[in-house]
Amino acid sequence: MSRRAHFATKFGVLMATVGSAVGLGNIWRFPYQAGENGGGAFLLTYALAVLLIGIPAMVAEFIVGRESHLNAVGAFKKIAPKKAWGGIGYLGVFTGFMIDCYYCVVTGWTLYYLFLAASDNLLGLSVDQYSLMFSTYSSSVFPPIFALVSVILITGVIVSLGVQKGIETASKIMMPLLFLLLLALAVNSCLLEDSQTGLEFLFIPNWSEFTIDTILSAIGQAFFSLSLGMACLVTYSSYFTDDVNLIGTASKISVIDMGVAVLAGVIIFPAVFTFGMEPEQGPGLVFKVLPNVFSQMPLGYLWSLLFYALLFLAALTSFISITEVVVAYISEAFKISRVKSVILTGLTFTLLGSVCSLSFGPLSGFTIADKNIFDSLDYLATNILLPLGGILTSIFVGWRLDRKVIEKQLNIKGKKGAAFLKVYIFFLRYIVPASVTCVLVTGLLS
Ligand code: PHE
Repeated sequence: MSRRAHFATKFGVLMATVGSAVGLGNIWRFPYQAGENGGGAFLLTYALAVLLIGIPAMVAEFIVGRESHLNAVGAFKKIAPKKAWGGIGYLGVFTGFMIDCYYCVVTGWTLYYLFLAASDNLLGLSVDQYSLMFSTYSSSVFPPIFALVSVILITGVIVSLGVQKGIETASKIMMPLLFLLLLALAVNSCLLEDSQTGLEFLFIPNWSEFTIDTILSAIGQAFFSLSLGMACLVTYSSYFTDDVNLIGTASKISVIDMGVAVLAGVIIFPAVFTFGMEPEQGPGLVFKVLPNVFSQMPLGYLWSLLFYALLFLAALTSFISITEVVVAYISEAFKISRVKSVILTGLTFTLLGSVCSLSFGPLSGFTIADKNIFDSLDYLATNILLPLGGILTSIFVGWRLDRKVIEKQLNIKGKKGAAFLKVYIFFLRYIVPASVTCVLVTGLLS
């Protein structure tokens, strides 16, 4: 192995990659999508999407990363027959850059709410007051910028400490803590009076709501939640040692990621229904509805503190992984130190993140196709660039990459192995690109 940085332990590999996958996508996007798209019917479709599309696509990113041991751009350039394939890496870095600009804003909000919960300033208001409080906060100038700068600073310190001392150590501490918080909150929710209605909303398969859109939403959700399509897992797997089992790791990440998403639903819906609230999606749910739910709950202070700590940790570890894509690329491509690269990226994100944040306040009049800057970036990145990156990566590995590289990386041997490889390549050549293209096209038309 080269002198390049690598993760020291298999546990570290799992925690770092799960840290990337488990994020806002699991806690505020998944539960609502499941509830709205037929509950158990969506869960089943989602599980299939993860198995048939998510895992193959993730393994493809792992192959590229570990074979090259390079950053997103360098990885594709090094192992591709033609340099032009490096374009997939540039697309990944660019997408990461865009996501980072608005992900730091939301991670900042979670930090602020954690602060409110910890200082006992969150509970006791009415629904309307919570709505007003959130819109006043998010549209103000300095408080959200202060929060996002804090997030960038924390992330900067962790990332500049390097792959092992920074990212791996932080993930090994933060992720088990996150699982503990998740379990405590889920048990508490299940013990609530009307937990059954909430659990039914999430789990009972309602096939009457099942349409082609359900399938496409499940695939889109799988992509975002598993951190696919922007070379994030190419970057992380470039730090894997040769003894990491790529298929095994991808399967574990997917199962854990899905488990967290389901548990998030188990936490949120019983509570929302018990206290007579309406479930809402995204910011509305976690920043406007839940504070009111916690206000009515016995030991509300404790549960709100745990919940916002959970949300912040989940968002932070994902933010770290996206930032690492950009930092690794800049430091390797321009041959500057990791710390310099972190400072450069941090300053840029501070500037662009602030612009995104201001798009809820003073810059709200500045819109592109009726969306403010924040929403435009989110739309472009999640609906267009991530699927595009996923399609290109699977086409590259399925059609262009030397089979021997795939055999070596997946440790394929014997007849059974050869049969498996055929099926895997078939998925990469046809199933993944075709299904993700459908998601991309519907995303564009919506
Ligand atoms: N998977 C993260 C989430 O669920 C988001 C993410 C997307 C992270 C792409 C890295 C790359 O919130």
